[in-house]
Amino acid sequence: MLTKNIVLIGFMGCGKSKVSRVLVDRLGRERFSTDKIIEKKEGRTIATIFKEAGEPYFRKLEEEVVAEVAGKENVIIDCGGGVVLNPKNLAALQKHGCLFYLKASPESLLANIKVGKPRPLLQVADPLSKIHELLNARRSVYEQADFTIDADFKTIPQVADQIVKIVRQ
Ligand code: S3P
Repeated sequence: MLTKNIVLIGFMGCGKSKVSRVLVDRLGRERFSTDKIIEKKEGRTIATIFKEAGEPYFRKLEEEVVAEVAGKENVIIDCGGGVVLNPKNLAALQKHGCLFYLKASPESLLANIKVGKPRPLLQVADPLSKIHELLNARRSVYEQADFTIDADFKTIPQVADQIVKIVRQ
């Protein structure tokens, strides 16, 4: 049984938040969502933070929150899609956790993003091209995860099952 933290990483729309909620039920561990903690601290949504204070301010908050949660024990951490691009965040999360990259195709990501919360980085004329561009730039970092889980067009419980299997090995 894996006792390190379970850290979910991956691009916007890959299902990290939904999968992490299912993992809470299946594994009985506490869950921390970096985006939710930031929204609570700031009293405004991520989209509003980007609009009113800009991305660098958001990334600073993100780093503070990761420093707070990365050292916890036996928990599930649901990371915003850009968290691990900061080497400091990646190192802190790797130190106490096992990283799971939920990998999905741009088409599948876009389908989820369209029905999800607003993503400030994708408010552009051609979000699919933007997803390709960002994913190309980020892929090598996401692939540093301990495990890559194929989340393409899978249901949330199916993805959670794959993670539970690994955790229980
Ligand atoms: C971001 C992902 C978002 C949120 C912010 C920036 C990113 O979280 O943190 O909009 O840079 O990929 P989700 O991955 O939960 O959408």
